[in-house]
Amino acid sequence: MNLAATVADKAGKAWHQASTQLDQQRQQFAQDVVAGLSARQKTLPCKYLYDEAGSKLFEAICELDDYYLTRTEGQIFEYRLPEIAQALGPEVVLLEPGAGNCEKAEPLLAAMSEPVAYYPLDISPEILLAAQRRIQGQLPQLEVVPVIGDFTDPAAWDSLPKSHYRKVLFFPGSTIGNFTPEKARELLCQFSAQLSSGDGLLIGADLVKDSVVLERAYHDSNHVTEAFNKNLLHRINSELQGNFDIDAFAHRAFYHSLRQRVEMHLVSLAAQSVEVAGTQFHFTEGETIHTENSHKYTLPGLQALLQETGFNTKQYWTDNNHHYAIFYAEVP
Ligand code: AVJ
Repeated sequence: MNLAATVADKAGKAWHQASTQLDQQRQQFAQDVVAGLSARQKTLPCKYLYDEAGSKLFEAICELDDYYLTRTEGQIFEYRLPEIAQALGPEVVLLEPGAGNCEKAEPLLAAMSEPVAYYPLDISPEILLAAQRRIQGQLPQLEVVPVIGDFTDPAAWDSLPKSHYRKVLFFPGSTIGNFTPEKARELLCQFSAQLSSGDGLLIGADLVKDSVVLERAYHDSNHVTEAFNKNLLHRINSELQGNFDIDAFAHRAFYHSLRQRVEMHLVSLAAQSVEVAGTQFHFTEGETIHTENSHKYTLPGLQALLQETGFNTKQYWTDNNHHYAIFYAEVP
């Protein structure tokens, strides 16, 4: 076979693989949406909120005055960085599931004593590669290996490089809040299964607080969270041949104190039918689609969850208002 043919063949194969993967993702999306809209309480998996447009909107949410989470976590890291770095110890491999742009890890790595390596794990290769270049430029001694994969998929963890150094898992941003207590327990067990005795977990979580403060964070006065929530309907319309009338739905977010979570819904403002991927769905007036949960923790609640999943809390840090907490825990 001549070279040109081989190259063309390879390119063709790569294109074929990429397009089948896209097809599969689209299929899965369609299947999940049809299943979710067929349930008695209509629901959509929150991971679909984070496409490119959704991720941009989420970044805009993080900048809002009403959304205290990102700012508060950032302040704790800023003021407590030396203590946190000290707690983690020297010569550590830092692993970050769902790392995204890796912006939180960079100052942490810079403050840590002789960090050995940084392994960010995320589904978005473009963002990871840009972050790798940036961090490698700042910390040339550090080994940075981005790994592409979904951290909830145990198989993705197999692609992480092996190392005999101490490991610390970094899980900031209150991402744990997206998981129900049962799923959170599963995920943290999966985390501790990746670790050995003496390894650690540095995790950020939003705390239970006044419901007015909580609800304002998810129903902001700039309507960015509304756009973020409704982006899911736009996405269904464009990717799954949906015909949602976006204006016929309203954004709703409320704190459910018994479940200790903020729930985000889309409320149908009228009785209406919608078609998605060739299937009809009926909405009564006031019927909702549940689109996201954001679970809140108490300090003892988080400590107990960590204990149950194989971690001993070593230290934790909060802001003055006790709005947010960062915990460092180790596998005994
Ligand atoms: C990405 C899960 C931390 O729950 O606060 C923010 C997602 N949704 N506003 C959160 C979110 C609406 C966010 N987390």
